[in-house]
Amino acid sequence: MAADLVRFGVAMDADLLRRFDDLVHAKGYETRSEALRDLVRAELVSDHVAHDRPTIATLTLLYDHHVRELSERLTAMQHDLGAHVISTLHVHLDHHHCLEVIVMKGPARLLAAAADRVLATKGVQHGRLVATALPEDHADDHG
Ligand code: NI
Repeated sequence: MAADLVRFGVAMDADLLRRFDDLVHAKGYETRSEALRDLVRAELVSDHVAHDRPTIATLTLLYDHHVRELSERLTAMQHDLGAHVISTLHVHLDHHHCLEVIVMKGPARLLAAAADRVLATKGVQHGRLVATALPEDHADDHG
């Protein structure tokens, strides 16, 4: 993965650099470079969402399936998304809890809004959307 690694100099005022180093340390990074790369990636993702670009995403959620009509509601939401839902993995964790991983593809904002709706549903205990840009040369027809 380290192909074409390029070094560049960054000028930053001392106070900002000190705060950055605190953050690097607090987050457990070994180097400033690693932290900076992740910051840039995160910013690229948020720019991606802001411009509503084609996105592939996984939505992971944990929920209690004994909450009334929750399973039905979550299934209905996925049906409403139609072809934007590529696949769903369901794991019956224990007597109460289900883990679901929903793989989605579509415009960034549509996926983010869908994830917000799902995660805000009563009975969903925890969840997170991980989104990334579809490769620029991605083609649906695999031709
Ligand atoms: Ni289940």
